[in-house]
Amino acid sequence: MRFSPSFLDDLRQRLPVSEVVGRRVKLKRQGREYAGLSPFNAEKTPSFFVNDHKGFYHCFSSGKHGDVFKFLMEVEGVSFPEAVERIAEMAGVPMPKDTPEEARRHEARASLLEIMDMAARFYEGELQGRAGAAARAYLAGRALSPQTQTTFRIGYAPNSRTALRERLRAQGVAVADMVEAGLLVSGDDVSEPFDRFRDRIMFPIEDARGRVIAFGGRAMTADAPAKYLNSPETPLFHKGATLFNHHRARAAAQTTRSVVAVEGYVDAIALASAGVAHVVSNLGTALTSEQMELLWKMAPEPILCFDGDKAGRRAGFRAIETALPLLAPGRSLRFAFLPEGQDPDDLVRAEGRGAIDAVLVAAAPLVDVLWARELDAGPTDTPERAAAFETRIREALNAIRDETVRRHYQTAVASRLSQFGRPVFAERRSYGARGGPAPRGRRGGPERSWRNGAQAQPALAASADLKKSPTVVAGVGRLQAREVALALAVANHPTLLDELAEMFAELEFSSRDLDKLRRAILDSYAHGAHDRDAMRADLAAAGLDALVDRAQGALLSSEWWVSVDADPADAAVAWRHASALHIKVRALHRELRAAEQEFGRDFTDDNFRRIVEIQRQLSTAEGSEASIDGFGGASGRVVRPM
Ligand code: UTP
Ligand code: MN
Repeated sequence: MRFSPSFLDDLRQRLPVSEVVGRRVKLKRQGREYAGLSPFNAEKTPSFFVNDHKGFYHCFSSGKHGDVFKFLMEVEGVSFPEAVERIAEMAGVPMPKDTPEEARRHEARASLLEIMDMAARFYEGELQGRAGAAARAYLAGRALSPQTQTTFRIGYAPNSRTALRERLRAQGVAVADMVEAGLLVSGDDVSEPFDRFRDRIMFPIEDARGRVIAFGGRAMTADAPAKYLNSPETPLFHKGATLFNHHRARAAAQTTRSVVAVEGYVDAIALASAGVAHVVSNLGTALTSEQMELLWKMAPEPILCFDGDKAGRRAGFRAIETALPLLAPGRSLRFAFLPEGQDPDDLVRAEGRGAIDAVLVAAAPLVDVLWARELDAGPTDTPERAAAFETRIREALNAIRDETVRRHYQTAVASRLSQFGRPVFAERRSYGARGGPAPRGRRGGPERSWRNGAQAQPALAASADLKKSPTVVAGVGRLQAREVALALAVANHPTLLDELAEMFAELEFSSRDLDKLRRAILDSYAHGAHDRDAMRADLAAAGLDALVDRAQGALLSSEWWVSVDADPADAAVAWRHASALHIKVRALHRELRAAEQEFGRDFTDDNFRRIVEIQRQLSTAEGSEASIDGFGGASGRVVRPM
């Protein structure tokens, strides 16, 4: 239904934002506003503000902004009409009346829902009855406990063509309505409609509000014609727009801010029973764009779980195809691939929750799986084949509609491509040396590697490293950008170390990789490498060649003084500035962490002010970097590779 602007305004007037928000977020008054911890991001410093006067909330950590309706939609994942309904209820305002046409549709829906609920109750009862003995044994065999059966309203459809029909008829339900609800099979060649589900374990499929809208029925024997039989499309049930366990997962996702999608009903139930409550099943078909939208309402980066086998991988690739056009800033997917031949249910039963957590933690970002997909599509062991690979992957990116996301994908892919050739040819050489055949593309051994983001496959090994070094991928943190500059400057101008070695030795780097580079540079210098080429050779011998290249690629163009072209005297001054700033910023970050912890323990105004003050100092310190940028000449000049 459409709501009139005056009705919505009336609701906004009656319910201050702080009251609606206050039910979920602990708010503290701050002048004309309220402040609290963001419900969208885990944070220790309040960056979430509510202004009743203006009627909105604003979250600085996530950039989210809106009114009471938007808040419920964002936080609870409900639709707009549902949000309006809830707010109206909180405000004690009756909902506007439907038009007669709408009222009819509503009623029809309501009565279908009622019928579905009656059917679910019937199946639940049958499971507990005499006819349900074998079904109970089957469920016990699958480790689905009585409590789980109750939670998920699991039932049993007896082996009869009339049992449900007669039961519902006795309760006053018309056969035509049972047919419309998909519970009976009917048709021109069927003289009398009969029960669709017979001798099956029944899994009710519920909508986002927990109302039964369909069933999945599992056969208990292997020789049954279909392992699972599902309700047909009905006015209540659109398979492609439904997620099994949606409403429970939606509630759980409020706290986890993540959601996991698995393929099977039992997989979802097994994970939920093992404590992974934020799990849904996509009902076994390829994930549709509608289902993805539902997932994104629950979490910014849903994890899709697939089998580790070929079929699972193909399903993952299909999901990428669907997802690419829908990507948006901050909104993506991650992919978890299970050990081959095991589904989530098998894994959690065999090895427990920990094994599932391990798989989920290792979930690969979409960009990795996209890369792997194109690698999978053909060998890359000659320049021409590598070029074909590059063309494929660049073309795939065209499917991304969001311009900003596409640009970042292009950058990430370009950065990977730039180091693509080297490891591949290194691998070939080692094969050649043994006199064995060159590897055929990426088949064989490496197959299992990429799904765990693991090492065996050269190009992806690089990408796994890249993940650990976010500087390179996303240009994260000025802290690390500065570490890149500080290290590369002395690698480009080893003579700087004549004066600065001690300072360089005492610097603390936050990036492990860059710190390794820092120590290797010092080592090389200590062993007598006082010019660029000698140092570069030492670094290469230490296996840091690729790291230096990556750092070079991550260098901000404003850091012109790092370049080999820069005047060493200029470089020395800039280096001192940068290292002083680095030390200061590191110290402030440490202080900030301590202050945040303190604030976590003791939610006082004083502690909060301390955080704000440190943040102010940090932004002042970082701001002063801008003046260094301009030092000694043109800023924004592109740095020539060393
Ligand atoms: P799977 O064949 O992977 O089975 O189907 P499963 O989930 O492991 O089922 P169990 O453990 O043997 O009971 C995955 C999902 O695909 C849908 C169901 O939703 C199932 O959970 N499916 C499968 C069907 O709809 N029909 C079928 O015949 C098979
Ligand atoms: Mn299974």
